[in-house]
Amino acid sequence: MKSVFRDDILEGKVALVTGGGSGICKGIAQALLAHGARCAIVGRKAERLAGAAAELSATTGRECIALPADVRDTAAIEKVVDSTLERFGRIDVLVNGAAGNFLAPAAQLSYNGFKTVMEIDAIGTFNVTKATFEKRLRDHGGNVINISATLHLGGTPLQVHAASAKAAIDAMTRTLAIEWGPLGIRVNAIAPGPIDETEGMKRLAPGGVKDRMTAAIPLGRFGRIDEMASIALFLASDASSYIHGEVIVADGGAWLPTVSPLAFAG
Ligand code: HXC
Ligand code: NAP
Repeated sequence: MKSVFRDDILEGKVALVTGGGSGICKGIAQALLAHGARCAIVGRKAERLAGAAAELSATTGRECIALPADVRDTAAIEKVVDSTLERFGRIDVLVNGAAGNFLAPAAQLSYNGFKTVMEIDAIGTFNVTKATFEKRLRDHGGNVINISATLHLGGTPLQVHAASAKAAIDAMTRTLAIEWGPLGIRVNAIAPGPIDETEGMKRLAPGGVKDRMTAAIPLGRFGRIDEMASIALFLASDASSYIHGEVIVADGGAWLPTVSPLAFAG
């Protein structure tokens, strides 16, 4: 997709993107790089991450470095922030996209299964945000973009772990917006609906489930990675300079009918 944004809107900026080695957040990193930013991406699988960084650098012509780490490991995350600052001298945009998910009924979900997803998604988001705040954002301002979901806007069976984690991320987004707005730190979130060609949808919408889900989406299709990347670009840029503490839902209208039994009447 050709970008609708001018290609220098993030010139001179630096972005740190967790989950940037694959899927939606690789698409976000690609868009930030293509519009002027330099970028550090974070994930656990070092080889895949290095491959993604090399590919992103080659395709965008701007430097992307791979910093392997687990967002649950606070010492490793502090090192990631230090390494990004050593390499680039600044961090302007933080994208918290690292997440884990699987389908599991609550009755069969182990204590550790619930805890694991909470720790990666919710606590991981806090860990990276806090480390970046301490080492850079508190004194220089910046822009935090969390990746949420729509699971918790209604109730979603088989998703008590991920829905709870994403609800916590929305709460963090709004709370930090109030606490850190005065410091020049904008905090927002993107809540994607089902996005095509992602690990998330491979796990949550296997086989015929995709067709049934698509039938319930007012726009009649899954979203695309580049559509999520455009929202991140908008939030990272001055075009959104008065948007703060928002969770931007981008789901083709999918969650709307869930609040009204009459939505299916016609
Ligand atoms: C039930 C499961 C499970 C499953 C793991 N567990 N998979 N329980 N069903 N399918 C349980 C394990 O049994 C274990 O509990 C606990 O979770 C931790 O498992 P580990 O494998 O040790 O965890 P870890 O190595 O940390 O890996 C985390 C992971 C893994 C989430 C389980 O799948 C992962 O790394 N995922 C990253 C990629 C990913 O998920 N991408 C999709 C993001 S999409 P016990 O009790 O046995 O010790 C997304 C979409 C949101 O977030 C919204 C979409 C609409
Ligand atoms: P994905 O490709 O699996 O992205 C998740 C990324 O997080 C991976 O690159 C993974 O890399 C990284 N990660 C996982 N656990 C980590 C950890 N403990 N530490 C550091 N990195 C970790 O899945 P996706 O579908 O594109 O999802 C991306 C984001 O969008 C997630 O926040 C997800 O919840 C959200 N979302 C997706 C959809 C969808 O339709 N796909 C819908 C709503 C929301 P490693 O495995 O190498 O660590």
